[in-house]
Amino acid sequence: MRVSVAGGKVMNETIYKRKSIRKYDQAKLDEGVLAKVREKIADLTPLYPEIRYYIDIVNKAKGSFGVSAPHYLVFCSEEKDGALENIGFVGQQMDLFFSASGLGSCWLGMAKPEDRDASALPHVICMAFGAPAEPLHRELAEFKRKTLAEMSEGSDPRLEAARLAPSARNGQNWFFVAESGTDSTAGGTADSTASGTTGSIADSHAGGAAGDIDVSGSGKIHCYRKTINPVVGLVMSKFPCIDMGIALCHIAEESESFEFGKDAGAPERKGYVYAGTVGV
Ligand SMILES: Cc1cc2nc3c(=O)[nH]c(=O)nc-3n(C[C@H](O)[C@H](O)[C@H](O)COP(=O)(O)O)c2cc1C
Repeated sequence: MRVSVAGGKVMNETIYKRKSIRKYDQAKLDEGVLAKVREKIADLTPLYPEIRYYIDIVNKAKGSFGVSAPHYLVFCSEEKDGALENIGFVGQQMDLFFSASGLGSCWLGMAKPEDRDASALPHVICMAFGAPAEPLHRELAEFKRKTLAEMSEGSDPRLEAARLAPSARNGQNWFFVAESGTDSTAGGTADSTASGTTGSIADSHAGGAAGDIDVSGSGKIHCYRKTINPVVGLVMSKFPCIDMGIALCHIAEESESFEFGKDAGAPERKGYVYAGTVGV
């Protein structure tokens, strides 16, 4: 398979073919596979290392609305500025890990473990996972997403990875302004099979798995989430922040080095809340 990504080679091919899996083989995964999942959990790269979080594996969840899986990740975090973005960021690394490992997964915004969370930290969200009972991957053309023009300004090849990120109800309530990066209109075809890059953010940053990369964006990307209507916000308030962390994970996966923070020079954007800037 060849994936065209404007401007450069793909660093994490899974971004361009993953999808939410809602049908699962109900058999429990082997203990060896679950051990690998636990290893991955221990190896995640947080967006904000100072924010404490905890990820548990449980076999039953309530509020999963028809998505029945043999296992669920339960995400808990202390409540701090950036905590939800942090959970989106680490959780999406798990989603990509599952997809790259032949397992399905699906974020579940309303689900909670049936038993009390093992963690003393407040519950945030769940993610179903297990062996898929439907096709695990899809073609690029099958993604239902806004166009780059609808969700971004400026050029940076990493915007495509953000565009394809999953979001609650596929709302894609984000906007990205690339200040100066590689020209994403330059085009370029990446052989996604060449690198076999299914590695983590840490692998990508180490450069080892990313040996074939021609170029990746290097400029700043200012990130915004849509201001939500307060009525909708009562139920959905956590999702825009989690979604932002998910999109940032995709940008990080396609970055040779990744920093995220506040930039005093970031332009304001009407109807949006400034979340931070990649590359500061
Ligand atoms: C924060 C969040 C919460 C979600 N909650 C649910 C959910 O409760 N039930 C569900 O079936 N899908 C849920 N999803 C999956 C989204 O519907 C899905 O990611 C989106 O429609 C895009 O589809 P894709 O993941 O196949 O690309 C959630 C996704 C996110 C990011």
